[in-house]
Amino acid sequence: MVTREAVLGALRGVRDPEQQEDIVALGLVQDLAIGDDAQVSFTLAFTTQSPKSRATMHSMAARLVGQLPGVAKVQVKMGSTGAPPPARQAAAGHAPAPPPAADLIPEVRHTIAVSSGKGGVGKSTVAVNLAVALRQAGAAVGIIDSDVYGPDIPMMLGSRGRPGMFDNKILPVEAHGIKMMSIGLLLADDREPLVWRGPMIHSFIQQMLREVLWGALDYLVFDMPPGTGDAQLSLSQVIPLSGVVMVTTPQEVALLDVRKAIGMFQRLNVPVLGIVENMSYFVAPDTGKRYAIFGEGGGRRIAEEYGVPLLAQIPLDPETRLGGDEGSPITVRHPDSPQAKAFRELGEAVRGRVRELAALGSLPTIR
Ligand SMILES: Nc1ncnc2c1ncn2[C@@H]1O[C@H](COP(=O)(O)OP(=O)(O)O)[C@@H](O)[C@H]1O
Ligand SMILES: [Mg+2]
Repeated sequence: MVTREAVLGALRGVRDPEQQEDIVALGLVQDLAIGDDAQVSFTLAFTTQSPKSRATMHSMAARLVGQLPGVAKVQVKMGSTGAPPPARQAAAGHAPAPPPAADLIPEVRHTIAVSSGKGGVGKSTVAVNLAVALRQAGAAVGIIDSDVYGPDIPMMLGSRGRPGMFDNKILPVEAHGIKMMSIGLLLADDREPLVWRGPMIHSFIQQMLREVLWGALDYLVFDMPPGTGDAQLSLSQVIPLSGVVMVTTPQEVALLDVRKAIGMFQRLNVPVLGIVENMSYFVAPDTGKRYAIFGEGGGRRIAEEYGVPLLAQIPLDPETRLGGDEGSPITVRHPDSPQAKAFRELGEAVRGRVRELAALGSLPTIR
């Protein structure tokens, strides 16, 4: 049985970094409710705290209460009594807005997350080739590898070097015309922390936004960790996202995970730009016959269910895999192939969708 006292006790462990006082003493914790199903919910009624502090406190509060014995689920709402609410909060009305960290990267126009319900569906492959396709269409593009569980982007872009420094800032690594930073490059000696805690993720991502010299970019693509755990949630709250591209394979199991992931972004009011169905089909090189190896129609079904576009269907293709393994994306090594064309169509669809949402006023652009 979870008690109020236990919950408040845990929340006293969260300090407001600006006021050097715990959030219970400051009266920020409101509407605390403990359901019969051991579900704990409360509101953090922020006043003048910065978006960064809000995100840190929100994530710590959720984590500390979540760790209490007997707690099944934690729901932390963000309220605001003093400072004007962030613009995005006004838009949808059902969930707390992710705090805009736009001031960290004022020269970046659009931030696009590439996410998936589970690993291994080709999220990083899509992120890299989407970045290259946008670059090939003339945009200035950066990519941040924020997949704490599998930072594969340096390998996929063939850039194993370490980033340089300039004027006390980190220079992004450049590969195939794209600026790149990876959470993997910030870890000493490839040693992965055993557990990625919310505050740790915040500090890593802030480092990658604030301390890296990105310069002016049209698009900054984030390769997100797969799924909907604590790391994913923390990242989605701390990164100022214009929208998310969901990657799935055609079969049902992948689709269940993708529904959960879409739900998470919707709760955070991050617009879903659309669905990418990866490993959609295979064209036999000898006969030209098309095979639906992982089933058919999954991407379209999920797109219709959520009323978002199916942005692209990417074929299953050995050269695409090889491109990732060897650090030369298919869009670079065989730009005229049908596979590269599918990624360019994806790039076009993403650009179109960003323009469309911006015109509707429902896309929180960074500047
Ligand atoms: N369309 C594709 N055709 C062939 N292989 C692919 C395709 N997409 C991804 N792969 C391969 O599948 C594996 C998993 O892809 P990856 O992009 O690392 O997935 P994730 O980032 O979702 O874990 C990699 O070996 C990658 O090269
Ligand atoms: Mg990956």
